[in-house]
Amino acid sequence: MVMLLTSPKFDDEELNLVKQCLDSGWVTQGPFVEKFEKAICATQNVEHAMATTSCTAALHMATTALGLGPGDEVIVPAFTWVTSAFAAEYVGAKVVFADIDPATYNIDPQSIKRCITPNTRAIIVVHLFGLAAEMDQIMEIAKANELVVIEDAACAIGTRYKGVKVGGIGDVGCFSFHPRKVVTTGEGGAVTTNSPDIADAIRILRNHGSSGLRLAQGDEAKPYSMAHFETVGFNLRLSDIQAAVGVAQMNKLDDLLAERRKAALLYNELLADVDELALPVAGDASGHSYQSYVISVLKGGRKKRNAIMDALARNGIQSRPGTHAVHNLGWYVENHGFVREDFPVASNAEDTTITLPIFPGIVKADQDRVVSIILSTI
Ligand SMILES: Cc1ncc(COP(=O)(O)O)c(C=O)c1O
Repeated sequence: MVMLLTSPKFDDEELNLVKQCLDSGWVTQGPFVEKFEKAICATQNVEHAMATTSCTAALHMATTALGLGPGDEVIVPAFTWVTSAFAAEYVGAKVVFADIDPATYNIDPQSIKRCITPNTRAIIVVHLFGLAAEMDQIMEIAKANELVVIEDAACAIGTRYKGVKVGGIGDVGCFSFHPRKVVTTGEGGAVTTNSPDIADAIRILRNHGSSGLRLAQGDEAKPYSMAHFETVGFNLRLSDIQAAVGVAQMNKLDDLLAERRKAALLYNELLADVDELALPVAGDASGHSYQSYVISVLKGGRKKRNAIMDALARNGIQSRPGTHAVHNLGWYVENHGFVREDFPVASNAEDTTITLPIFPGIVKADQDRVVSIILSTI
């Protein structure tokens, strides 16, 4: 049997809540979305959470709500999932890549400083693989240069930075509930913020651009009262069926995180003496969600990395590179003329990283097998 990179953990609670939702007949954004949003607020310690269809949708609404557009420059790490960058493109802003820290794979604050021009308006920070980015330095740079900060926290439900949950440190946070994430609703996402104005703007954008009924003082809603549409919005509402799954998943978040952490610590132990590999940096002691467990090959580059991944595949074990160096993707090479050397740390990370299977329920025997194949190939 193939050992997959990830495997969501569902039980009767998801089934029971989905049944409750279906029995109620209310299957689009409704009571379960509200409960899911409340759970996200409580977990991430933020004032507002707006569930949506994906993190990509969340990022798109964030750049829209913050008023970014043509002429604006948005700084994005060069090593991330491509939609961190597309979020700027969707609104016609210019993506300016910053290189990453080779130890953490997160955006390098010094590189951010070098990217700033009079047109810079925003930084999209990514807490990659569930490890918080250097938020103190990033917020200081943002403040000094009057920039807004979007936290791409796709991988980071439960992640802490110096004890503080991510998603409410910058102006806006964006989460993913894709099946490779710690909590999943199939597809899904959320925007978080402590700003009531941004929260209102997101709710309107998510709902076709409508804020609902707007009645004159003293008027009652009538059957023929029409909703008010104030902007060109989208339909990015999450279904209540998915939110029911999300509520069940959030109820077991502590366990999901603990199981990932346990598996990560075991990999750390099993791989500790392998000089040819770099293991994930933990950040502050309990802060990493370990959405992904990513190692890097220090000698032999892409060839050695690929040999290890081929050996894992031959033995029925799925693995993936960490993520993309986005500037090397076709769109950016062909339309923006980037070359690999523009962001050498990101390019090297793309070449040398391997994501190993990690999920709640992975057993020691599985991890021993993964490690023995790596050791026999290195
Ligand atoms: C850093 C990052 N940002 C954004 C996304 C997009 O999330 P979604 O698939 O929910 O749109 C992902 C997904 O893998 C991601 O890893």
